[in-house]
Amino acid sequence: MSKIILTGDRPTGRLHVGHYVGSLRRRVELQNSGEFDKIFIMVADAQALTDNADNPEKVRQNIIEVALDYLSCGLDPQKSTLFIQSQIPELAELAFYYMNLVTVSRLQRNPTVKAEIQMRNFETSIPVGFFTYPISQAADITAFKATTVPVGEDQLPMIEQCREIVRRFNFVYGDTLVEPEALIPENEVCCRLPGTDGKAKMSKSLGNCIYLSDSADEVRTKVMSMFTDPNHLKVSDPGSLEGNAVFTYLDAFCKEEHFGRYLPDYANLDELKGHYQRGGLGDVKVKKFLNNILQEELEPIRNRRAQLEKQIPDIYEILKKGSEVARAEAAQTMSEVKAAMKINYFDDEQLIREQAEKFAGKN
Ligand code: TRP
Repeated sequence: MSKIILTGDRPTGRLHVGHYVGSLRRRVELQNSGEFDKIFIMVADAQALTDNADNPEKVRQNIIEVALDYLSCGLDPQKSTLFIQSQIPELAELAFYYMNLVTVSRLQRNPTVKAEIQMRNFETSIPVGFFTYPISQAADITAFKATTVPVGEDQLPMIEQCREIVRRFNFVYGDTLVEPEALIPENEVCCRLPGTDGKAKMSKSLGNCIYLSDSADEVRTKVMSMFTDPNHLKVSDPGSLEGNAVFTYLDAFCKEEHFGRYLPDYANLDELKGHYQRGGLGDVKVKKFLNNILQEELEPIRNRRAQLEKQIPDIYEILKKGSEVARAEAAQTMSEVKAAMKINYFDDEQLIREQAEKFAGKN
């Protein structure tokens, strides 16, 4: 069986380092591993509209931001098909039929949807499109017969629900769809990188994100004002790692080689942590170390972005070409689905013959 990747992001803002360690970095590695037959990376504008129906301009503006972030991280249109969700009508068509295979109570049990409904204060007025987006996401994945879906941990309930839809479809209509597997980061901290203020969720409205497109100065300022241990007042005080955003970021980004380059007094992160906990190590020193690491990782991305920003029309062309390729793929699956569901009337000569005979017998 071929190995196929599909994944994507909602274009509601620029991508930040949480997206990067949660999924983006991995996608680029998978792309370059050569292990996959096909790779589809989707800008999920239709899904973004499920909770931004009144703000299509925001979605429209952010499509190019997300595409720039993708390309500057190293996603390569020669190896991966980059496309825009809304340009593939088959995705809506598939979702329409999958809706018959999912109950309202099953959707209500989806923990990610539950949490998002609370976060948006939707409780009493949930848009139907938003409520059903896990079904639409199952359409996104299955349209490409994806075997592998690299995502952040919060997307696991979506993949689980997709797998249920696949099993139900195949049971009712015969083997047609492929059950995908989620791929989440191996390193636990990468699943949930906190904001620079130590809050669990990075979000634009909280102003606690480090964006992939931030300038070197912006990154430095954000790192130097990061949340650490509020009780670590003097350098000599023992410090705590619990909820200490600087150390959480080091867990996500730091490699042993960084010590040789930027902090040769320590051999590894455990030694640094040990010193911090004993006391005698100041926050500023640790923050400078983190800043050096982040700058090293983000600089090439930032430089590529600066180049790409000079080629905006070419990027739209990449998305347009990618959407054509993606559409052909989805159309193939759609025709298999229609055949399985027996709604391919005009392609079905046997049906026409049988009906003709039935009515011929009548007269
Ligand atoms: N739900 C994803 C997000 O919040 C975006 C998305 C839409 C997606 N369809 C998908 C991810 C299919 C993986 C597979 O960003």
